[in-house]
Amino acid sequence: MGDEPPTGSPFAQLDRLPPEVLAGLIAALDALAAQPEIQRVRRAAQTALLPLPGQRLLDAGCGAGEVARQLAALVAPTGEVVAADFSAAAVAIAALRHDGSRVRYAVGDMTALGFADATFDRVRSERVLQHLADPDAAVAELVRVTRPGGRVCLVDTDWESLTADGLPDELTAALRRHLAGGAGPQHRSMGRTLRRRLVRAGLVDVITEPITCCFTDPDDAATVLPMFDRRLPMPAGLVPDGMWEGWFAAVDAAAARGEFLAALTIWTATALRPT
Ligand SMILES: C[S@@+](CC[C@H](N)C(=O)[O-])C[C@H]1O[C@@H](n2cnc3c(N)ncnc32)[C@H](O)[C@@H]1O
Repeated sequence: MGDEPPTGSPFAQLDRLPPEVLAGLIAALDALAAQPEIQRVRRAAQTALLPLPGQRLLDAGCGAGEVARQLAALVAPTGEVVAADFSAAAVAIAALRHDGSRVRYAVGDMTALGFADATFDRVRSERVLQHLADPDAAVAELVRVTRPGGRVCLVDTDWESLTADGLPDELTAALRRHLAGGAGPQHRSMGRTLRRRLVRAGLVDVITEPITCCFTDPDDAATVLPMFDRRLPMPAGLVPDGMWEGWFAAVDAAAARGEFLAALTIWTATALRPT
């Protein structure tokens, strides 16, 4: 690691972060996994993925491996889930949580996977493409390692769908401008582009589902929407420094009036590799 603090999305470079920042991001993934709205998204993705007993699955960009462990129960007793992530630190944390289920943990870059063609029956990737410099290279790799007739399921956020109510319009507009100016993930509209990317990668029978997550409590919202998370240090950059106090005062006031509302659409897109 160099002396310069890393810039860009922290999720594109977990291994370059100080340990306490990494721990904070893993804790954020854990809080997100417990969030009912995210569980709703994951149920929809799992239904579309259709994992069956005996199959080989890949979760690419697995983070702490929560979903991989859930899927392992569905491919038991003879199937297997490979939980792969670019970050060796994330894979180490995921492996420490191994629960005896049929999950194998691997370090691997989604844009250059170390698996033979057609290795997997089912491949999924959740909220990873938005962080990548070349998301289509990653989609092509996911397709390459999927067997003909197998399924690829992508899940990603459309940050441009973020809406809020109960907050002063000028504050939400200023935050929107800040985010549009480059704060946050590299591909802010990734969710809505998933279908197109799968079509262009040659997949067929694409099923696309937009799921709008809605929050009426700022602490709930904070598990998915970092701009409502006041524990994040200012350098995380999602709320501009000069807006910090006014933003959270407005959020608290909206909550006190019972008027707080925030919503974000997360998309799932699932398709078949033609036989
Ligand atoms: C926002 S987290 C999502 C983790 C997990 N999919 C989830 O839904 O909780 C993004 C993950 O993608 C991983 N990642 C980033 N670039 C990657 C790449 N090129 N190949 C594989 N994983 C990557 C990060 O290390 C991180 O674990």
